[in-house]
Amino acid sequence: MGLFDGLKNQSRKPKDQEGNAAESEQIGYNPENAPVIERDPNVSRETSVVSSTQEDLQADAYTNEPAPSEAVYTATPLRSYAEKKPVRHVVGTTKVIAILNQKGGVGKSTTTINLGAALGAMGKQVLLIDLDPQGNTSSGLGIEKNLLNECIYDVLISDTQLTDIIIPDVCEGLDVAPATINLAGAEVELVSEMAREGRLKEAIGHVRGKYDYIFIDCPPSLGLLTVNALVAADKLLIPIQCEFYALEGVTKLLDSMKRVKSLLNPGLEIYGVLLTMYDGRTTLSKQVAAEVRNFFGRTVFDTVIPRTVKISEAPSFGQPINEYDPTGKGAEAYCALAREVSQRG
Ligand SMILES: Nc1ncnc2c1ncn2[C@@H]1O[C@H](COP(=O)(O)OP(=O)(O)OP(=O)(O)O)[C@@H](O)[C@H]1O
Ligand SMILES: [Mg+2]
Repeated sequence: MGLFDGLKNQSRKPKDQEGNAAESEQIGYNPENAPVIERDPNVSRETSVVSSTQEDLQADAYTNEPAPSEAVYTATPLRSYAEKKPVRHVVGTTKVIAILNQKGGVGKSTTTINLGAALGAMGKQVLLIDLDPQGNTSSGLGIEKNLLNECIYDVLISDTQLTDIIIPDVCEGLDVAPATINLAGAEVELVSEMAREGRLKEAIGHVRGKYDYIFIDCPPSLGLLTVNALVAADKLLIPIQCEFYALEGVTKLLDSMKRVKSLLNPGLEIYGVLLTMYDGRTTLSKQVAAEVRNFFGRTVFDTVIPRTVKISEAPSFGQPINEYDPTGKGAEAYCALAREVSQRG
């Protein structure tokens, strides 16, 4: 099965189509007629999609099984925030966590989606803010970006409220503030704006208290969008890929953090460092993991995210790993991470 089969196969029906048929009609949106997502040719990924190499096939215990038979491309119904299901628990202190590493392709968006979905499945209320013009967190959850009228760009640049763009209940307990390619213009347009570094913080202020966790998926750069995330966040989660050059650029990232901390956000702290794409068969992965633990000490999560083909396939089905392959080791790892996060408080 090819990686993008989920996107190409038009005959596949969204999983929740039946259940949401009435609702979809009501809001004039029929996922079956929705256009098939094409990767935006104008947006180049910093790293290519992981391909299913022979090495991967051996590394992933689940790879030899066919994709889960119930796996279908899941288009997310474009509900409005007013249609959000009632929250049944009392939300405690909201934690705003920016998922940040200016190095590309280290697993920021994958972690945003799968950690968010795992916490949502544990009964938490989670908001994911896609702050990357590539919009991978949005498309990875089946949100069809070309159907969106407004995105996080409009919140940063105009008077649009965050609740005007939030798509509620994308998965259990999980809401998403999506991004489109329009966001690429924000880096330039914000330069001439007043209080340009505090735009996201101000927007989040209106929904703080409604979520247990707000995760911000940052772009792979240290520009004005990332500065907005650093100002808005209480804490940083830094994914580090278990590959050569893993720690390259980390000093620059920590310098940016320190600068924002001293000037704009004194409470900013590192929440945790996450080892991603770990391949236990290679000495390199082990060496990198040891080096990262040596450098960051106890901030490194005990949970390590393994490199699996299923994790890389899941976004093309618009599903988090706990829906796409709930019993696989990828889902297991992100559930373990969610437990660690909720214990860390
Ligand atoms: N644990 C994993 N196992 C296998 N593939 C993975 C894993 N984590 C991420 N990937 C794949 O690696 C690629 C990069 O991951 P991702 O998009 O999450 O990184 P990123 O840091 O958000 O990238 P960017 O800097 O471009 O925003 C994606 O194709 C993703 O599917
Ligand atoms: Mg990303």
